Amino acid sequence: KERGWMSEHPVRYQGCWLSPKSALKGVILLQNHLRNRPTDIILAAFMKCGTTWLRTLMFAIMNRSLYDFSSHPLLKTGPHDCFPFLDAYIYENYPITDLEVLPSPRLFATHIPYTLLPESATASGCKFVYIWRDPKDVLISKWQFMNKIKPEELPSLSIREAFEMFCQGISHYGPFWDHVLGYWKASQESPEMILFLKYEEMKREPLVYIKRLAEFMGQPFSLEEEKEGVVQEILKLCSFENLSNLEVNKIGVQKFSNVLVVNNREFFRKGQIGDWENHLTDEMKERIDQITEDKFKDTGIDI
Ligand code: A3P
Repeated sequence: KERGWMSEHPVRYQGCWLSPKSALKGVILLQNHLRNRPTDIILAAFMKCGTTWLRTLMFAIMNRSLYDFSSHPLLKTGPHDCFPFLDAYIYENYPITDLEVLPSPRLFATHIPYTLLPESATASGCKFVYIWRDPKDVLISKWQFMNKIKPEELPSLSIREAFEMFCQGISHYGPFWDHVLGYWKASQESPEMILFLKYEEMKREPLVYIKRLAEFMGQPFSLEEEKEGVVQEILKLCSFENLSNLEVNKIGVQKFSNVLVVNNREFFRKGQIGDWENHLTDEMKERIDQITEDKFKDTGIDI
């Protein structure tokens, strides 16, 4: 029986854990068929690091001259519909050639680790926006998400089981730490190509980071826009409070593929920093922090 994307046990492929019927299939198809353009911008992240937020921000930044904030498409469209999710979406719903007709600059999203990206993406000169997050919050967010979207007949995972697998790196698109390291190294080699962001920093100083994001995307805010409050309007539109209370995100569904249909509301849980404190024991916290310290030691990644 088809069990759906995330409920498939991931398999190891070139050092990365992928669900065999969808993500792995998607990676291989993309490696063979994706044709990137230098003007493309790809949002990349491990699961539950803030893709939904970044998607809406990038869409709103890129298209701000087209829409009025009172009738903006994000008020009626699920956040994951605003641009294609390369690895779980297009290859089942649409032929990959459909991407060719999208006008430039195209926006895409992916969870694929840097080392598995199609050569077309890494060699085309296209840009990447990468976001990561405290792995303790990633674990909690992912654990809760997976239990919500799993088929009913499957048992829920306990936090202890989810924790053990996460620490061992057995996690879709994982190991988490290798995912971050892959994009970090690439961002050090080509800082003009990869904007490396952290969820917690964006939450603390959204104004600073939205401006940095717009500049990186080649769409800096003009002084006039700043005076007119466009930056604040975008932040308000894409805020957790606003998006999570929209009708489309309370009752709408996102059909990523024939086997992965997710209620939009599952993408909005708490949107806070530090919810891990409500779920992890001291020993669990210390173990994850130790792995993070060991993995990121000498890299310069600010943990
Ligand atoms: P929590 O489960 O900790 O609440 P992703 O979008 O990559 O799947 O990540 C989901 C996480 O981002 C969830 O975290 C979700 O609540 C949070 N999130 C969703 N939309 C957000 C927004 N507009 N601003 C901040 N956080 C958001």
